[in-house]
This record gives sequence, structure tokens and C-alpha cells, in this order.
Amino acid sequence: MEFDAPAGTNVFDSARIVGKSTPRIDGPLKTTGTAPYAAERHDVAANQAYGFIVGSAIAKGRIVSMDTAAARAAPGVLAVVAAPETKPVGKPQFNNAPLFGGSEISHYHQAIACVVAETFEQARAAAALIQTRYERTDGAFDLAKAAPDAPLAKGSGDKPDRKTLGDFDAAFAAAPVKIDTRYHTADESHAMMEPFATIAAWEGERLTIWTSNQMINWAKRSMSQILGIPAENIRVDSPYIGGGFGGKLFVRADAVLAALGAKAAGRPVKIAMQRPLMANNATHRHATIQRLRIGAGQDGRITAIAHENWSGNLNGEDGENGTLQTPKLYAGANRLTANYIATLDLPEGNAMRAPGEAPGHLALEVAMDELAEQLGIDPIELRIRNEPDMVPGDPKKRFSDRHLTRCLREGADRFGWSKRNPKAGATRDGRWLVGMGVAAGYRGAPTMKSAARIKLGADGRLTVQTDMTDIGTGSYTIIAQTAAETMGVPLDHVSVELGDSDFPVAAGSGGQWGAASSTAGVYAACLALRRAIGEKLGFDGDAAQFQDGKIRLGNRTLALTDAGAMSAEGDMSFGAFKRDYDVGTYAAHFAEVAVDAYTGETRIRRMLAVCDAGRILNPLSARSQVIGAMVMSAGAALMEELAVDKRFGLFVNHDLAGYEVPVHADIPHQDCVFLDTLDPVISPLKAKGVGELGICGPGAAVANAVYNATGVRVRDYPLTLDKYL
Ligand code: MOS
Repeated sequence: MEFDAPAGTNVFDSARIVGKSTPRIDGPLKTTGTAPYAAERHDVAANQAYGFIVGSAIAKGRIVSMDTAAARAAPGVLAVVAAPETKPVGKPQFNNAPLFGGSEISHYHQAIACVVAETFEQARAAAALIQTRYERTDGAFDLAKAAPDAPLAKGSGDKPDRKTLGDFDAAFAAAPVKIDTRYHTADESHAMMEPFATIAAWEGERLTIWTSNQMINWAKRSMSQILGIPAENIRVDSPYIGGGFGGKLFVRADAVLAALGAKAAGRPVKIAMQRPLMANNATHRHATIQRLRIGAGQDGRITAIAHENWSGNLNGEDGENGTLQTPKLYAGANRLTANYIATLDLPEGNAMRAPGEAPGHLALEVAMDELAEQLGIDPIELRIRNEPDMVPGDPKKRFSDRHLTRCLREGADRFGWSKRNPKAGATRDGRWLVGMGVAAGYRGAPTMKSAARIKLGADGRLTVQTDMTDIGTGSYTIIAQTAAETMGVPLDHVSVELGDSDFPVAAGSGGQWGAASSTAGVYAACLALRRAIGEKLGFDGDAAQFQDGKIRLGNRTLALTDAGAMSAEGDMSFGAFKRDYDVGTYAAHFAEVAVDAYTGETRIRRMLAVCDAGRILNPLSARSQVIGAMVMSAGAALMEELAVDKRFGLFVNHDLAGYEVPVHADIPHQDCVFLDTLDPVISPLKAKGVGELGICGPGAAVANAVYNATGVRVRDYPLTLDKYL
């Protein structure tokens, strides 16, 4: 069905299950270590062999020769798949770097071979015997050097990604107060706990991959393009995923080489990508350089705002566009945003949690702090004064439901903002310099068509099947809540089966569209089942009330079990009516930090997020999403950085020992508050995602707090102590 008008009253307005804090139904499996992650699925295919991936030792050039004879003769080896002997595999729609085959090397740790053996240790030992000679060519690895000549990115409709409104140059020149600043954000790694992992098995022409992937239908289509076989011959199964953060939106070398290795060995093959390969073989968040120019009147009203962004990628494709939130957040009649992409020969940059906005806030929301200081206006007040009526960068559009000002005011009260000393570097607590910072947050709320099947058992229990994924976000639970609410049964009467390409195609997990889209699809399937039950039992399924395992219509009451076993499918697509609206999510983020006056060591003391994201389907798991994202944003502000070797073109710290992410000791008590808003434009559930909203802004609040503490403004992330001394 099509969602084509703002949602009116429906079953969720008197919800008893949706909107209630609900422990994850998959929690016991996770906490007892029994959830079957891809590499642990020993029972799905007999006689599994092990694959070990070899990565290129150069960043750019070609393989001159590869000697695999010793590896092939090594104990336990079943097959060696070597890139120079393999025709390059097809390039799927969403991958920029070549995945396998041929002799050309376009990035460090590009997969060049895979050894398949009886045991992992045998595969690893044999891989070390492969002798590869290369011819190295020069590459471009330095964003700062490449940025000045970088061309404009392609925007929508292939038009150059440069948007203007009014006359920025004139308004900026005339503005009595202005800032002109540049920020650098670092290359970042998804660094998820579960590596890329796949078990592949062939049955004749049919391939099954048990893998770890956020987007089942994309994966199926990609494998079809990679291998040149029909998509209907491929099954993808990914019921549990140990983190993805965008890295698992696309298939990687593990899936490709497990499939090729299984074919070569004539046996199922399992590959868990070795941790030291993950940062350079797969994707990362691109570093950015961002320039902000903002002009305002003495009253703090913005008259001119320009945000320009530079990043780099292989082939100059798909950079990190830090400007995305800027057309949405603040009023201002004269505007410019531009997005440039340099060609770099580093590993592929691609989507990582809130691609664009996450680093974009690290620039824009610090620029707003710098402007507030110049104006001598409180940074919260400055933001509220520039709250727009219509979408600033697209004044024909309305916001569907936006309460950013409420987030800021409520956050200020809860956080004790009035105690902040507006004078930077002036608050001491022993050896610690103490400060508070604030930032606004915006992230879009896209939707994608989503389908589900729902089965009613003769015992009145329900099973939902959809290829939606749960990447640790809580999809299992919100889907069960939606079905239980709509069909009027207790939550524990619903089972949920996810991640199998044999199930109806759902939105998948990405862009924080999963929660809103997949629950809408499940709702559509439930409505289809209610209608089907009505037809079978002779009543109008749309008009009846389903509650407590009963069906009531007028004075007639039936039991759900009267319907017997049956099943229905439904899907929800999202209509054009939303074209007139900007559907987004909003937050106010607060941080208090202490900086050691002698060593520059920064400790976060408190964090608060106040979020406006429509109906919160499960406040417990939504809170987990937001506080996890706040941790990730604090990491981006203070410590996360893939260090680029600019001579040889690789990320040096390519494991969890060298790539620093926050640990428990780095993160203090976190608070997360949700406003009780409803967005009738997004879906029948009036709910929006929060998984990416939570990473848009907290890092900027931390950076602003560090400035408030120290009086030193560092614009080069991460804000490590050496930059303050
Ligand atoms: Mo998200 S970067 O779309 O998984």
C-alpha cells in the first residue's frame, strides 16, 4: 500500500505496546553468546573450509608476478584463488573500489588472493608463502594538497553540487559581524566488533551466502553483478549483525572470495576478514576540510552563510559531504553550499553513520559557537534567534514536525546551562579547566519501501518474516511490538525472523530509515492479515477491533484463533505527498568537560541529548542508539583518526590497538531525553529514526566545551592534547 497522506488516528494513538520501553527480544541470545553470527554458523553447511585473504602491499600500481606454487603445496590447502589469474569481478552499484581480479592495484590491502584450507591456521600459513612482485606508481594521498584543485562533486541530476540563494558575497561583505573559519575532520574507521564475515556454499548454479550485511536485497543484487549470475540463484542470510555503521551496507571481499573460494575448492568456505585488513581493504569515513563563512547583524540574525566542503576518494567519486545539515538548520536569506571531491588513491571512502552530517556538525556547530562569541550572545540564544519558518535552503518546503527550540530550551534547563561561565578559560576546579558546550543536531529521516509477511498459527501466535536487518539496533523488538499492537496479541506471542533474502524485501538498515520504514511495512502486512481474516470469517477487517486475542465488531466477538492458520503479505511505499515537506530529526546536545591545565588531557564529565524524532517506538533501545552515537561522536571529537601514511598511501593504525575509540573510562554519565512529538508525515506510526541523529552534534558540543574550558580554539580534529600545548 501507499502512504500518501498525513497519518490520522490509528491503533498507535492508544498504543499499549508500541512506545513502551521493551527489553530486546533477542537480548538473551546476545547476552548468552548464542546468537548465530555469520562466522559461527557451523551448522548451515557441512564440511566448511577456511579462507584467508591476502591484501596488496602497495597502494597503486600493478602486480608483475604472483607465485602461488608453495602455497598450493602447503599442508591442508584446497585451493588458491589469485587475482592475476582471475578476470576482474563485476562492479556492483554501490562499490567504488574494485573488489577482486586482475593485476591492477587501486588501493592498499586490495584483496589479491585467497587461500582455502582445511583449517584457518593452514590457510594463514600458506598465505604467507605467496610471493608477489609489484610495479608501484605514484598516487595522491594527501587531501590538503589535493583539495585546492578538486572539482565540484556531482549533485542530483549530475548538476555540480553548488547551491546558492540570494547574494552571499554581497551580504557577507556588508555584514557587521562575521567569521571565516576552516575545520579539518579525520578519516575514521567503522571499527565494528564483528568483522566482515561470510560462509558461502554452492549447490550447482545456486549460491547461498550466510553473511553479515545491513542491506539484504542490495547484497543479493550486488553478488549477482559481481559474479554475473542471476539474482534469483542467490540467497543471502544475515539474521544477526555485530555492528555495521554503514561499513556493511555493501558486500566486501569476504563475500566475494568465499563465493570464488567455495567454487574453486568444491566445498563451503568460511571467511572472517582478518582485523588488520579491515581498515584498508574495506571502506572508511573520508576526512574533510570545511570552510564556514557566516555574517550576521548585531542582533545575531544571520544574513549570509556559506559552507564549502572538500573530501577525496578513489576515482573522485562519492565524497563526504559535510554541508548536508546547513540548508536545514538556520535561517539566512543569502546562502551558498558547495561540495568538492578530490581524487585520492587511498582506500575507498564510503558511508559511515550519518555520512556527511556527522563531520558536518563538527564544523557548522563550532562555527556557530565562534559567531556567538563574537556577537557576545549566548550560543543557545543565537540558535533560537535563527530558527527558520520554512526550510532555509529550500524555502518552498515546510518542516513536517520540528521542535529544535524546545530541545535547546529543555536541554538548557536540565543541564544547568545558566551556570556556564560565558568567559572562556576562566573556570577552574583544582588543576582542571572546566567548560560547557552546546550544539544543535539535524539528520534527515528518509523512508524506503518495505514489505513483510505475517503468519498466524492455529494457536494464535504470530510470526513476522521480512528481510529487514538488526545491526544491534533493536529491529527485532520494534517489529514484534508493531505486530503485537496491530493484531492485538501480547508481545510474547510474536516471533520475528529477519535478514533472509527468501523473505519479503524490506528497507534494510541504513540512513536511519530502518525503524520507520520496516515497522510501516509490518503494519501493512498486519492490515492485510486483518482483512484476510475478515474475509474468511465474514466481517470487515478494517473496521474490527483486534485486542487481547479477540476480534470485536459491534456486538460480535470472535477469537483470533477462530481464523485458523493463515498468512498475508503487505508492503508500504512512501508517496509523493512528502515532496512538500522536509522530514528531519532534531536534537540539542550538551557536554561538560574538564581539561588538565598542565597536560591538556581532556575528560568529558557529562553529556546530554534532547531528541525530537517523532514517536519513539521503544525508548529503551532508542536510548541505547543515541548514547552509543554520542560515544562515537565524542570519539570523532577527541581521539578517532585513521593516520594516513602520505608516502605509501595507507592507514597505518589499521587494527583495534592503534585505532583509538572511546572506552568506558572515557565516557561519563550520559542522559538522553526524547520529546513526546509525533510526525504524521513520515509513516502511519509517526515515528522517525534516531540511530544517526545521535552522532550529529555531540562532538561539536564537546569541542565547544573544550573551548569554553581553555579559551583555545583548535579546528583540527581529533582534539588531542598535543594541539593544546
Ligand atoms: Mo548508515 S552510514 O546509512 O549504515
